[in-house]
Amino acid sequence: MTSGASVMNQRFTFLVAGALLATCGSAAVATPAAAPPLLPLPQSIAPSQGSFRLTDQSVVVVPPGDAGARAAAERLVTLLGVNRGIRPAIVETPAKNAIRFARARGISAEGYRLEVTPGSVTITASDDAGLFYGAVTFWQLATAGKEAISAVRIEDAPRFRWRGLMLDSARHFQSPEFIKRFIDWMALHKLNTFHWHLVDDQGWRIEIRKYPKLVEAGAWRTPASAPGAPILPKTGGYYTKEQIREIVAYAAARHITIVPEIEMPGHALAPIRAYPELGTSVVPPRGIESDWGVFPYLFNVEDQTFGFLQDVLTEVMALFPSEYIHVGGDEAVKDQWKASPRIQAQMKALGIKDEHALQSWFIQRMERFLASKGRRLIGWDEILEGGLAPNATVMSWRGIEGAVAAAQAGHDAVLSPQPVLYLNHRQGGTSAEPPGRGEQVTLRRVYDFDPAPDTLTDDQQRHILGLQANLWTEHMRTEQRVAYSAFPRASAVAELGWAAADKRDFGGFVDRLVPQMARLKPMGLDASNSAFTPSAALRPAANGKGEVTLANQIGAEIRYTIDGSEPRAGSPLYAGPLTLAMPTRLRAASFRHSMALPGSLDQKVDALSVRRRDDTQLKLCSNDIALQLEDDAPAQGRRAAFLLDIMKPCWIYEDASLDGITEIAVDVGQIPFNFQIGKDIEKIVFRPPATPEGEVEVRIDGCEGERIAVLPLKPAASNPALTTLKTVVAPRSGSHDLCFTYTAKGPSPMWAIDAVQLIPRP
Ligand code: ACM
Repeated sequence: MTSGASVMNQRFTFLVAGALLATCGSAAVATPAAAPPLLPLPQSIAPSQGSFRLTDQSVVVVPPGDAGARAAAERLVTLLGVNRGIRPAIVETPAKNAIRFARARGISAEGYRLEVTPGSVTITASDDAGLFYGAVTFWQLATAGKEAISAVRIEDAPRFRWRGLMLDSARHFQSPEFIKRFIDWMALHKLNTFHWHLVDDQGWRIEIRKYPKLVEAGAWRTPASAPGAPILPKTGGYYTKEQIREIVAYAAARHITIVPEIEMPGHALAPIRAYPELGTSVVPPRGIESDWGVFPYLFNVEDQTFGFLQDVLTEVMALFPSEYIHVGGDEAVKDQWKASPRIQAQMKALGIKDEHALQSWFIQRMERFLASKGRRLIGWDEILEGGLAPNATVMSWRGIEGAVAAAQAGHDAVLSPQPVLYLNHRQGGTSAEPPGRGEQVTLRRVYDFDPAPDTLTDDQQRHILGLQANLWTEHMRTEQRVAYSAFPRASAVAELGWAAADKRDFGGFVDRLVPQMARLKPMGLDASNSAFTPSAALRPAANGKGEVTLANQIGAEIRYTIDGSEPRAGSPLYAGPLTLAMPTRLRAASFRHSMALPGSLDQKVDALSVRRRDDTQLKLCSNDIALQLEDDAPAQGRRAAFLLDIMKPCWIYEDASLDGITEIAVDVGQIPFNFQIGKDIEKIVFRPPATPEGEVEVRIDGCEGERIAVLPLKPAASNPALTTLKTVVAPRSGSHDLCFTYTAKGPSPMWAIDAVQLIPRP
């Protein structure tokens, strides 16, 4: 993209301890918060007198023979080594100035007590997880920016027992090394459940010895590309049993349970492609595995298919010791079951009244199997339809209604409603965001989610095991984007799952989050700065000047410069739209307590940039299936990410000043229409094209208004990357909404606008 705005996300970096204070500047500035920067927020923090000095001479003392305490101590020593460069020795004999791990009965599950005094630090818990979490809290204190750690007594325990993240490794595969890093980041937020989405229509990622074709046929695919565009390299991979055993042990050592998900009866294209006898005899077309959406391919209900599923689950259970096994159950459109005479006959023989009841029967059969092996079934909330299996737990994703229904029926539930806990939604509104779903789910929106809604009675609330955020990876092609999409919103999820409801406060959370993001940087986490980075809206002003409106998501103060220098605590405070002589370089950053927050804006303000809008600054005409989709070209280098509603590609340049405009340029690209949306595809309609490739049309004062420009797509049709189309326009004056659509014979390829430039007379 050719935007004049470049967002320098990682400018602000805490190095190691000490940097926080150094960045604060003078001692006269307000301190960020009285409370130490702990995330998630502990239940009780009682400051006391004096401080403890952590030095090269400090030691860690563990009770003799206590393996859990030694493991927690080893994790602490590693963490202090990473962030403080200090690696205390671990001993089993009492010592002075020690960090001591101790056991005590009566501290609740996963809870701990942490006492910092001038002479010693003591971490006490009943269970191993509590010792580990106490160590994590001490590590956070030790990396809070001061050499001396203020004396304090912390008593802490989690609010919920299920504090989860789901990662989809089926749509896009992530390496075992990345999975381990992800688990580390979770553990350092006291998240304890990693729901691993291992199979889906697009890929099968787990080695199953008895059925080798699952990975042979299902682990690799060629990504979709627009007609005529170069074929993209294959993508994929799978986890061997050895790798999974290692990951499960790695997670367990960090007190994270991995709940594997094996999808049924829908999202089953990958296994059906490998073993067609598992399906309903409808043969999937080639290449369909690189589509997104809801596929119609369901498992059949033959005994052999249940045999297959039980064999698979047997191998899965041998790898994953979790109490729960997730069997999916979502989005199983029943068309193939309805159309299959064989399945209809089986339903009749079984006395099953409809396809929902058949799915219920299917899931109940799996539940009995899992229960016979001592495991519990969990599934997405569709498992409620047609009757819930007797001991099933529901993961509520279509809102929280599934959890309410489950709790009312006496079942346990986990809250993971979309869109608020769906981290595949973009978290910012600028072109700096990687691809994802178009609706914004900001950090604040996640933080404000209420895991104890009034709609649940106290009795029902007791059935809520906790909450989980989900990362679906259709549009996350790289591990870096997975990490960016997950954090820091997952930090908010961690706080929701752990902290007491009445103590939560977004401002305080931000103050504690910034140091947490800095701590995790040396552990490979480049979290998103979208919540903090100022965004700029530009427009022309009178007398050849430009007007710039700045904003950030969290309402923090913004400071700016126009002399090219880095914004500092003493730079001008933004108080409303700026009218600037042009050309100007505008730099801005957000501040709290006189400290710059991560992420900054560096914006060129000139005659062209004030008349340019990229797709994130245009308004979508509709929001049916709004997506931000990456271009499939060029093969190397930066690709555009188009924001569009795939049900209606149409954009509005609101309030465009047309004074002096002589030309319009539009950057367009084509994307494959690889979406399984069933009959809804008939709802995508276009005006008929005048030329074989179609034309971009520009209308004034609304999408039914006068057509003021036509830009044939022919020059773009042979270029798989971005093409700039340009045309002259008749002179007009005043401000108008301009509507951009295109004519076409159908939705494939789909055209998308990356940016619009209004060009004034030179
Ligand atoms: C889901 O998002 N289909 C669970």
